[in-house]
Amino acid sequence: MTTLKMTVNTYNRKSRINPEIYGSFSEHLGRCIYEGIYVGENSKIPNTNGIRNDVVAALKAIKLPVLRWPGGCFADEYHWKDGIGDRAKRKKMVNSHWGGLVEDNSFGTHEFFELCEQVGCEPYITGNLGSGTVAEMSEWIEYITFDGLSPMALERRKNGREDPWKLRYFGVGNENWGCGGNMRPEFYADQYRRYATYCREYSGNRLYKVACGPDTADYDWTDKIMANIKKDMSAISLHCYSWFSEKRACELTLENCVNLIAKSRNMEKLIKGHKEIMAKYDPEHKVRIAVDEWGTWYKTEEGTNPRFLYQQSTMCDAMVAAGTLDIFNRNSDIVSMANIAQTVNVLQAVLLTEGENMIKTPTYHVFDMYKDHQGNTLLDTFCENEKLEMNDTVYACSQSASINEKGEVFVTMSNCSADKPFDIDIELIGKEAGEISAKILASDDYLAHNSFDRPDAVKISEYTKIRETGKGMLVTLPPCSIAAIKVK
Ligand code: AHR
Repeated sequence: MTTLKMTVNTYNRKSRINPEIYGSFSEHLGRCIYEGIYVGENSKIPNTNGIRNDVVAALKAIKLPVLRWPGGCFADEYHWKDGIGDRAKRKKMVNSHWGGLVEDNSFGTHEFFELCEQVGCEPYITGNLGSGTVAEMSEWIEYITFDGLSPMALERRKNGREDPWKLRYFGVGNENWGCGGNMRPEFYADQYRRYATYCREYSGNRLYKVACGPDTADYDWTDKIMANIKKDMSAISLHCYSWFSEKRACELTLENCVNLIAKSRNMEKLIKGHKEIMAKYDPEHKVRIAVDEWGTWYKTEEGTNPRFLYQQSTMCDAMVAAGTLDIFNRNSDIVSMANIAQTVNVLQAVLLTEGENMIKTPTYHVFDMYKDHQGNTLLDTFCENEKLEMNDTVYACSQSASINEKGEVFVTMSNCSADKPFDIDIELIGKEAGEISAKILASDDYLAHNSFDRPDAVKISEYTKIRETGKGMLVTLPPCSIAAIKVK
């Protein structure tokens, strides 16, 4: 078996891995919010105030740190005042972007904050810059955060919420180069300046304002946004999907999977490319990148509405997730947040539901295995690597490591080769390899996935193929596997 040398240097401590890198995104799209998260108080499906108990428990278990809502493209068509007050009287609208369904607005601001409170995560709201007014955006923030006597705070109280909520993350529009108004960057930058001015900080609430950043490699957008928005912006977003629109998740060939993984690995080049442009205007990198939409995007499952974006999620998706999270960790000096698209029943979902049943996808298990990086300090790592025979732009292994306040080291790794195992000879610099524990997610099939008939076909196991070496440890990484190792 090929042995690859790897070093984890505990003397070389780098950036903090913001927990928010492990965030998610839930849009009013298909069966994500309705059915997937919100079933209403009268549903037979066990719920608390209308929110599914199984979904909340699953999201708590991965320590979901932040949830982005209500879109996506939906955000720039959403009028928040339609989603407050007596549910029976709420105005209905047509969700024209996502299948023309009638949106009854039964899940609105109060329900979203209830969801975040139940999960224990930060809310991240995207405001409507595309078709909403400055006053509307401004009043939403007043409604949510104002503690004193104001028209919006009184309205909130009338609707049953006495205390204001805390709201840190706020997106000033979504994809305004596309579904959010088809704007030119200069025009959006001016709009941002205007809208953001009235996103006030009430009652001690501090906002982290996210401007609409580029689609994938649109470096010109980044340049013009950075050149024209000089202040009042904490981060710019980056959206990047790994597409394979001709086939469904479980129809991919091995070559298709490898090509998809290759696309997803491009994330590192994109982050560095945008960071370099941002440095021209902001050499200290006060403005960060929020990758607030990322993941795989396939042809939708047979028999489902194509605008609902429902897809299965396989071990190939797990490989994409592991490699991408390793990239975010390694670039946590600039990436302050990331939100996989999406949480339930849409695109690279971590959870799928069918009636009262819920399953965890292989991607969910990756988030579960990687959660211990949250809030840790990134460590310098180096790993010898081998390119895949099938696509020489892709390295077989990915890795990242971090250290927590107790001095425990946490290493995550993946091997995306379909047939080649590796021994990874890890040298731990500056730390004795004390008690070691490890978990693995592995399969001999890239297309392995969980279904409602076989919900645990792919699951995490304890891993014991690790041996102390004196300088560190030797880990056998099987083909198509992801490992998480903790060293106390
Ligand atoms: O996540 C699905 C859609 O992808 C979002 O609504 C939009 O922002 C992006 O194009």
